[in-house]
Amino acid sequence: LLGLSGCGAAQTPNAPAQNTGAKVLKVGSDIAYAPMEYMNAQQQPEGFDIDLMNAVGKDLGYEVKFETGTFDGLIPALNSGKYDAVISAMTITEERAKTVRFSDKYFQATQNIAVKQGSTIKSEADLKGKRVGVQMGTTGQEVVEKMGMTPKKYDTAPDALNDLINGGIDAAVIDSPVVAYFIKQNPDKKIITIQGNFAKEYYGIAVKLDNKDLGDKINASLKKLMDNGDYNKLYQKWFNM
Ligand code: ARG
Repeated sequence: LLGLSGCGAAQTPNAPAQNTGAKVLKVGSDIAYAPMEYMNAQQQPEGFDIDLMNAVGKDLGYEVKFETGTFDGLIPALNSGKYDAVISAMTITEERAKTVRFSDKYFQATQNIAVKQGSTIKSEADLKGKRVGVQMGTTGQEVVEKMGMTPKKYDTAPDALNDLINGGIDAAVIDSPVVAYFIKQNPDKKIITIQGNFAKEYYGIAVKLDNKDLGDKINASLKKLMDNGDYNKLYQKWFNM
């Protein structure tokens, strides 16, 4: 599964950077979910998940290459062999765990309701009869559907938040760190968050169901990073700014 890039390639002074002989780990992600993963101004992936995956890769001796995809296509692409792993603020669910192997949990979140300041929506019960947006294929979609509603589905979380700002929907149900970060970065948009009473969710890194070897290695790395303080440094960097 893991490609060996540049093996046996002649060493020339102008050889592309990939030809270092480092093993490459192809990692899929929907890189539009700040601060977990997003493209910076230079169109480079950045965020907590990106830093964490790079740290895991480094520990395991891989060069990590991120590839962006739509969130609901990440698991099919992983299983078709397009990626070696997926990190994408992906909640570990029983349903998904039937088709992929999740690492140990590395992050706790919950769904949050984003609304405009002055909205009459004050709790999740108030969502009834309102136009609610979610990102397609997410646990946000699941919780809204479980409440008996049909949400408006967007390809990306920023699409949902932009439509909320533009008045196309009354609320968006999205992961807590993403709503919090959006509000902090965009005070002019006058969006507020409602905690709600949604269940805790835990993020995991996914590999193919039969790739126990890589799954175990990732778990060992995560444990190392949590024990040696590196995980905490990353957490501080992205969440206690
Ligand atoms: N945690 C939620 C889920 O697993 C949303 C994740 C969305 N991630 C993303 N990068 N867009 O369904």
